[in-house]
Formats: sequence, C-alpha cells, structure tokens
Amino acid sequence: MKAVIPVAGIGKRLRPHTHTSPKALVPVAGKPILGHIVDSLIGMGVRELIPIIGYKGDQIREYLTGTYDLPMRFVEQTEQKGIAHAVSLTRPFADRSELIIILGDTIIKTDFSRIPRAGENVLAVREVDDPRRFGICEVEGGVITSIVEKPDDPKGNLAVVGLYYFRDSSGLYEACAQVIERGIRTKGEYQITDALSLLIERGVRFTPFPIDGWYDCGKVETLLETNRILLEGAAGGAHGVNSVIIPPCSVDQASVIENSVVGPYVSVARGCEIRDSVVRNSILGEGSSLSNVVLDGSVIGAGAEVTRSRTSLNISDDSQVELS
Ligand code: G1P
Repeated sequence: MKAVIPVAGIGKRLRPHTHTSPKALVPVAGKPILGHIVDSLIGMGVRELIPIIGYKGDQIREYLTGTYDLPMRFVEQTEQKGIAHAVSLTRPFADRSELIIILGDTIIKTDFSRIPRAGENVLAVREVDDPRRFGICEVEGGVITSIVEKPDDPKGNLAVVGLYYFRDSSGLYEACAQVIERGIRTKGEYQITDALSLLIERGVRFTPFPIDGWYDCGKVETLLETNRILLEGAAGGAHGVNSVIIPPCSVDQASVIENSVVGPYVSVARGCEIRDSVVRNSILGEGSSLSNVVLDGSVIGAGAEVTRSRTSLNISDDSQVELS
C-alpha cells in the first residue's frame, strides 16, 4: 500500500514555531507530528510514502529520509490550490494502486489495520461540535451518501477527519482531474471533498470508519493538549542529576537535566539542557535550554534559551521585600 501525505501547508496558526519549521515537524509527545503519522502508517502495512511538500519542504525531506527506511517519492506543490490539486500531482506515482491519503497535520489514534478491511473505499469520520469547519458527510445504511466541504448549513455533524482509503486509486485521480478541468472550486480551492462528491454521485461506495482519537495540533493550546493525551502512560525515565522526573514524560536520553523537577507532561527533545528549573506541561524542542526558570504550558522552539538571573539578598531583620 502507498501513502500520500500532504504536508505543503504553512501552519500560520502555529506561529512563531512555523516561521522556522514546517507544521508537520513541530514536536509533540517525543517526536514530530509527522513521526506519529508515519509510524501509524507503517503499522498498517504502508510500504511507500509520497509526501507532498511545499513550505520548508527540505526539512521534511531530511527528516523522513533520515528517520525511515522506506521508498519515498517527494512531490512539490508550489502553490496552495487545495488538496485535490495536491493529490493530482501524485498521480504518476500512485495511479491504480491501493492508496491511503492522510493529512499531515493531525494525529489520529485508531486501529489502522482495520481500515482496509472496512470497505473498498473508506473515509475516517468523527462527530464534531462545529461542522462548519470540516468536510461533513451524511450516512445511510452504512454508506456515505453525500459529502460537503465546510457547509454553511450543515446536515449533521459527522466530519471527515482527513484519512481517505482507496483499494484502487484510479477513480480518485480521475475525479481530481475533473474537479480541476471543470474549475470546481469551493472556498477558493480544488477540494478533495468535491472529487469524492463526484464519485459518490456516480454510485461509488464509501464506508465511514469512526475513529477513537483525533488530536488537533493546529495551535499552541491544542498542541499542548495533544502532548498531554499522547504522553499518558509514558514512563518518565530515571534520567538526570539531582533531579526528579514526574511521569508521564518523554525525555530524550541525549539531554541534560540537573537540579530540576521535570513533569508531568513534558516532552524533552534531543540535546536539551535543563538546569535549576521546574517545568511541567511543556514541549522543549531540540537543543533548547532552560536555566533557573519555572515553566508551565510552554512550547520552546529548537535551540531557544530561557534563563532568569538569580537574586541574592542581603537584608536585615523585619525587612519586607516583594520580588516579581
Ligand atoms: C481539510 C478537509 C476537510 C476535513 C479537514 C479535517 O480541511 O478539506 O474536509 O474535514 O481537513 O481536518 P482543512 O483543515 O485543511 O481546512
């Protein structure tokens, strides 16, 4: 099975982190978002990756080729024209194949191995509170009967979560080509939702596949929440000098922790240095360092340094001092 992974987007809502890194490489629970996705794909039998890169694509290329020993075809999308357009660029490498498409910026937890057995064509779905923000489908008798991208007047709240499976990709590529040829744009873009809609109108059957966990990494608050959920159950790691690690945490062995309290819910990447600090509920990027700080609910980018000068006092009895 091949996997197409669109990761060309800019990730504006996750700035400043996405000024220097593509969104898919932002770390959460011990590895980049994309690492969680690819690990799940390998677990379900994917044997070739077709990442669609754009914004800071070289970093994605470097990460994937340096981390995974799988055949990969990188396809560049230079203009953001929508997912159907992005997918159409991969046609030379994945036409007439068993194919999974998974959007590269959300983490899904489910038994991926059940997806190919669920039907010929499968869309992962989940009920949402705000259907206007998603592709919304209607289901009758176990089959998807309609799908609309970000409807103004939603008929239900069953959202397509961004995982699409096709036992044979040829119909999908044909439909994406038609969306582009006919100039069918929704919200200004060539949408995969519209390509799927064409297929449904033609009688192609899509089976809905409800998923258990769908974790947003779109902004700092949801990234930290996802970090907490994915770390649940992770060991702390008895690592550090004169320090306490409170699980769950993910602490890279190639990091230095001295005279500190780390955790719960902290991801510490390779090369971090934490000294004389207390940190909880935070993500520390590769090579970042903390010294003499108390941090909570923080995302620290790779190589960033946070320090606070110590205060020494020499004051007499009954003095009143307020330190900020
Ligand atoms: C995309 C899809 C939408 C889907 C959503 C899931 O939208 O177009 O159908 O429901 O992903 O996250 P985007 O989030 O890129 O606007």
